[in-house]
Order: sequence, then structure tokens, then C-alpha cells
Amino acid sequence: MYWQDIIQKTFNAFGFEIHKSGRSGIYSRCFPYPYSTYSPWFGKKFQKRYAKIKDHTIVKEDRCYILYQFASHCFHLPGDFAECGVYKGGTAHLIALLLKEKGPGEKRLFLFDTFSGMPEIADEDPSHHKTGDFGDVTLHSVKNYLRDYSFIEYYPGVVPETFKNLKKKTFAFVHIDIDLYQSAKDCCAFFYDRISKGGILLFDDYGFAKYEQSERKAVDEFFHDKPEQPICLRTGQCFIIKR
Ligand SMILES: C[S@@+](CC[C@H](N)C(=O)[O-])C[C@H]1O[C@@H](n2cnc3c(N)ncnc32)[C@H](O)[C@@H]1O
Repeated sequence: MYWQDIIQKTFNAFGFEIHKSGRSGIYSRCFPYPYSTYSPWFGKKFQKRYAKIKDHTIVKEDRCYILYQFASHCFHLPGDFAECGVYKGGTAHLIALLLKEKGPGEKRLFLFDTFSGMPEIADEDPSHHKTGDFGDVTLHSVKNYLRDYSFIEYYPGVVPETFKNLKKKTFAFVHIDIDLYQSAKDCCAFFYDRISKGGILLFDDYGFAKYEQSERKAVDEFFHDKPEQPICLRTGQCFIIKR
């Protein structure tokens, strides 16, 4: 037995997670289960992509990997891409990298945020966010960070106000990382009718306890009478595939 295996077994015995190299990839402990599963977000290929965005995002690599894969899956569907909840632009950058790699000029990326922190409705939100949280950005700083991507369109201001001139748009993929109950509900209401058949709505914070009464409640309420159902992942995200 190698010393790495001994460390792994000791960590596992105490219920800690540790990741290790398998023959053809990285596997990580799937707490509370006694096994490890394939975890390509720790692999070299994805870590290289993540290194480009990690200083501009609060989203960890496992969720970023899921985001990247879903966005990639939707590339050939009709419609553009969107993100609601951009903050410093890290996850938007990941989507932009993908769009550039797959076929520059084919899709546009629509970004929605105040670009000045949480709006006033945050003060009433069960997530306990406050007005101005994530306020250490400006539209200018995000535009400068993402300056290499001419296919990005910026919609600064409060959702759903900023949706108002886009009623005729179609989307293939939408990333919703907007945290608040009302903001998430408004996103569902706007994008549901505008997402292509087979397109995906990916919610970043659905499964986190902090957002049980905000993002999760908004998504569950919106989809309770719809044919599509939220599919929850152990990363904390959930997704909807439009029928
Ligand atoms: C968690 S941050 C986004 C994180 C980002 N995706 C990343 O890569 O780190 C949530 C963002 O949602 C924005 N937000 C929340 N409600 C909003 C609303 N109604 N209109 C516009 N922006 C909103 C906040 O301004 C904040 O920047």
C-alpha cells in the first residue's frame, strides 16, 4: 500500500474528503458514502480553465465545471446565452471562453446585474443579504475584465426592469446566480417562455441551506405546475431542461 492510500484511508475513516488520482483521472470522496467518484473539475484540463477565472468568481471549480458542461451541451441549440448575477464576471468569463472556443460570432452572451451590488430588495430577503452586498465592482471594471469578448451585451440595472426590451429573444442556456427570492422568481418568469426546447436553466444556489427560502423557494414555486422539474445536484446547483 502506498503512503497516499494510507492517508486517503485515514481521512476517509474520519469522513473527510480528499481527492486522488485514479488511473485516468481524479476521484474524490463522496461524503457521507464510502466511495470516491470521478471529479474532472480537479483535473488538469479544467483547472487550466478555472485558473483564468478564479480570482473573479466566488463559485468553486465543481460548480464551474457543471456550468461549463451544460453551456457546452446547449451550444448547438437555437438562441443566445445569458447570465443573471455577474458580480466580478468570473462565471461569465467561463461562458465567454466556451463561446469563443466553440465558434466566435455564433452566439451572444447577455449579462444582467446592477454591477453595483445587491439591490434594495435584498434587505427583505430570507437569505439575509443586504443592499450593496457584492458592491465592490463597477460596470466599467467588469467590462474591462471581459474586454476580449465583443459578443457580450451588458444590461446594468435591476432585474426584471432590464429584461423589458428583450421580449422577443430566444435563449439556449441561462445561468442564474442571483441569490434573492424575488430576483430568481423574476428570472424564471422571463426566461421560461424564451428558452429553446432542450435548453437549460442552471441555478447556482438552489441547494445551499442559506438559500432554502430564497432561490430554492422561488424555483420550486415556479415549477410546481410545470412539466419540467428542478433536478438538484450535490454541488448545490439545480437545472431545468425545457420541454
Ligand atoms: C453571487 S453574486 C454572482 C456571482 C458571480 N456569478 C460569480 O461568478 O462570482 C450575485 C449577484 O446578483 C446580483 N443581483 C441580485 N439580484 C439582482 C437583481 N434583481 N437585479 C440585478 N442584479 C441582481 C448582485 O448584484 C450580485 O452581483
